[in-house]
Amino acid sequence: MTTAPANVNFDKGLGNTIAAETEMSFIDGQNGILEYVGIEIDALARNSTFEEVVYLLWNRRLPKKAELDAFTKEIRAEYDLPQPIWDMIRSMPKDAKPMHALRTLVSALSLHDAEVEDPSNEANQRKSIRMLAKTPALIAGFDRHRKGKDFVKPDRNADIATSFLTMLNGEAPTETMARALDVCLILHADHGLNASTFAARVTIATLSDMYSAMTTAIGTLKGPLHGGANEAVMELLNEIGDIDQVEPTIMHKLKNKDRIMGFGHRVYKAYDPRATYLKTFAKQIAEDTGNKKLYEMSSKIEEIMDREVASKGIYPNVDFYSATTYASIGLEIDLFTPMFAMSRIAGWAGHCIEQLADNRLIRPGAHYVGPHEQPYVPLEKR
Ligand code: SDX
Repeated sequence: MTTAPANVNFDKGLGNTIAAETEMSFIDGQNGILEYVGIEIDALARNSTFEEVVYLLWNRRLPKKAELDAFTKEIRAEYDLPQPIWDMIRSMPKDAKPMHALRTLVSALSLHDAEVEDPSNEANQRKSIRMLAKTPALIAGFDRHRKGKDFVKPDRNADIATSFLTMLNGEAPTETMARALDVCLILHADHGLNASTFAARVTIATLSDMYSAMTTAIGTLKGPLHGGANEAVMELLNEIGDIDQVEPTIMHKLKNKDRIMGFGHRVYKAYDPRATYLKTFAKQIAEDTGNKKLYEMSSKIEEIMDREVASKGIYPNVDFYSATTYASIGLEIDLFTPMFAMSRIAGWAGHCIEQLADNRLIRPGAHYVGPHEQPYVPLEKR
């Protein structure tokens, strides 16, 4: 076998490689710290809104009131979809997975954006706003379609979370539910060079367009090792069924070296600070709604995982308690990862613009381990 060239290292999974500089998220995996532009995630979850966090990530500072009002107005003006996209949703198979539908629809939006090929920073900022603003309608519209219901158009007098839940359910959400989703959107907005953000950067670094980069990112987020984990957590809770089955099921899975979804992280070897906040939130919602079963089962799973694998640096990640929170808001399981995408558009777009500001094509090497000096054997002699 040939040896790798001397001046490079083979870092499988790139866990020990820094591939970009960013001014948006700071993650301290050993101490469980996450900051957006230097502000701790807990302070933002308690005090901010998703729209304000998007402004912070994209402008590297909190907005003044007039700036936030103007930004919010710009987003709401873009909430609605081009009619051909509403029509396209109607033509989709009702049994399609929402993440497949979302990936397809975000890509299709590019066909109706005159600026799709305009690489200027200003055009990319406008396209970022369009994709952020329209994704809620894409997700809610597809859900209404698959249930055979009429579309509910976006509410330009409401924030993203409220407008989305209104489009989804056909009625305005309670303030608690809207705030719960708003906080989830804050917590999922950006997270360094996670797999889907890295995929977006690889795409935009070729000087392809923002819609192609977002489409790449959505396809990458879908995987259960990444954004798809929140749906897998809910499936695990449903598989376990009730609190008495938690211990035997989890112990059996650990014995089989199965991954317990919602636990572990490439960077956090301490409690994911987003999970800390979401756990508090999930407990609050469980108490408010009286629906304590999911929260109690989740706590029991955490107790067992803490006893069995915390010593290996395996703790709950953002997906573990977001599942319970989304279920408490009344979202169907296969809408959990689309929620993650609805929020992470902010991070993906921010990273694309950051990549273009100091771009270099991202093209790592591969270490060839196959044979050499092989003859070409004619077909009749093989
Ligand atoms: C997200 O990167 C980001 O920032 C992502 C994210 C974001 O905001 O964008 O934070 C969002 O994707 C969170 C992660 C969601 N995924 C899951 O919950 C899926 C379950 N988790 C695992 O598959 C795993 O923890 C990963 C994929 C998240 C990270 O795995 P690594 O870093 O590749 O670590 P590894 O697979 O090498 O595991 C190290 C050890 C192994 O044991 P040994 O073989 O050394 O004995 O830890 C074990 C693993 O078996 N392990 C687990 C486990 N995760 C790791 N054992 C049981 N259950 C788990 N969940």
